[in-house]
Amino acid sequence: MTAPTELNPYDADVIECPYPMYERMREQGVYYLESADAWIVTRWEDVQFVLKRSDLFSNLSGLDPHGMAPEELQRARETGALPASDPPEHTHYRRLAGPWLSMRGVESFEPNVYRVIDGLIDRFIDDGEVELASQFSTPLTVLVFVELMGILDEDIPQVTRWVDDTIEAMGASFGLVSRERMGELMASGAAFRRFLLDLAEERRRNPRDDMLTHLVTAPMRDFGGRTLHEQELQGMLVTLLMGGTETTLNMVDSGMWLLLEHPELMAEIRADHSLIPNFVEEALRIESPVQQLQRRVVADTEIGGVAVPAGARVSVFYAAANRDPSHWDDPEAFDIHREEAKRHVGFGAGVHYCIGAPLARMEGRIAFERLLTRLANIRYSPGKNDFRHGPNHVIRGFRELWLEFEKA
Ligand code: HEM
Repeated sequence: MTAPTELNPYDADVIECPYPMYERMREQGVYYLESADAWIVTRWEDVQFVLKRSDLFSNLSGLDPHGMAPEELQRARETGALPASDPPEHTHYRRLAGPWLSMRGVESFEPNVYRVIDGLIDRFIDDGEVELASQFSTPLTVLVFVELMGILDEDIPQVTRWVDDTIEAMGASFGLVSRERMGELMASGAAFRRFLLDLAEERRRNPRDDMLTHLVTAPMRDFGGRTLHEQELQGMLVTLLMGGTETTLNMVDSGMWLLLEHPELMAEIRADHSLIPNFVEEALRIESPVQQLQRRVVADTEIGGVAVPAGARVSVFYAAANRDPSHWDDPEAFDIHREEAKRHVGFGAGVHYCIGAPLARMEGRIAFERLLTRLANIRYSPGKNDFRHGPNHVIRGFRELWLEFEKA
């Protein structure tokens, strides 16, 4: 089935408000979009099906196994990058990192997150104004990664620049980076990967009781008991960092915007902080930072009754499923009391379900708890916001969000 060409979620003018387009896409059901060479999946049931059948839908989306020698194929599968690997490698990678990022794993990390967040607020609280993305949400995600990996304070400015460069490089696929700048960004990326590998090597020599030491030294059962090789370590560390950066920062920015658009909810949450966790879930549902990701079809199959061939690409729209009226009551309403809010697919589903979800939830909870405790009368800075979103169809978030406030 070929859809009308106007049902194209990749049009530049869809970015600002994609939701009316998602509604039409859901009505269409599964369809092939020629200009993107991808099958589009938007309904709740269909998204669940694709995400939960990792045997039918591969995350090794760039890999064409045909004609590859077995050893070459095996090496190509060993990415170390959780979102770009399939079982059985994926299962082993997940086993290595999972316990450290589980709910229990991140519990002991809570004081560090409070310290990072209060430290960031200290930096701008006397100014009466803040640009939330650059002065709070982005450094928050970088500093949490720094704490997680045990990176030294003196390296923080350089690591922050590398992270900024990595985010900028991701804009290359949207035509946002000049050729010359791309050269600089690639050199920066190589230096960053070298830094991470050196850090890992340091832990191999001087083990500590931390996640990085475990990633470097733990044997992988069923893989002859070997440890991660260099390519895997790079993939693991870079995706742990990037998986937690743009996503979490946009959760915080969008959450603040949602509160400013609903002042009655802001007042309610200020008066009762126990509402914050469900507010964070509802924000992730209605403004999902990850709008969509891709899979590759392993064998001829059907999605929602539509035949899709082996080898095809599938674009899975988490954000469209999160507003599907066949699953959600009144899905366009922002309801912080929604009982089932936590069941959104903003963190995915199935074996690739976000490994950082417990940490992201903790960051969101503490960020709003501290911002709402320490800042009073939060409002938009007059004339400074155009409320435009970044030019990215995958990750949704404001370019900037200027706020004024008084010290509480
Ligand atoms: C609000 C914040 C976050 C959102 C919305 C988010 C969203 C997602 C989604 C939708 C997936 C599923 C990908 C798929 O289906 O292939 C995912 C996976 C992943 N996320 Fe997150 N994420 C967030 C925070 C984090 C954090 C803090 C970390 C780092 C600790 C992280 C690391 C990862 C990794 C490594 C994966 C791949 C998991 C796998 O393939 O097994 N994420 N995330």
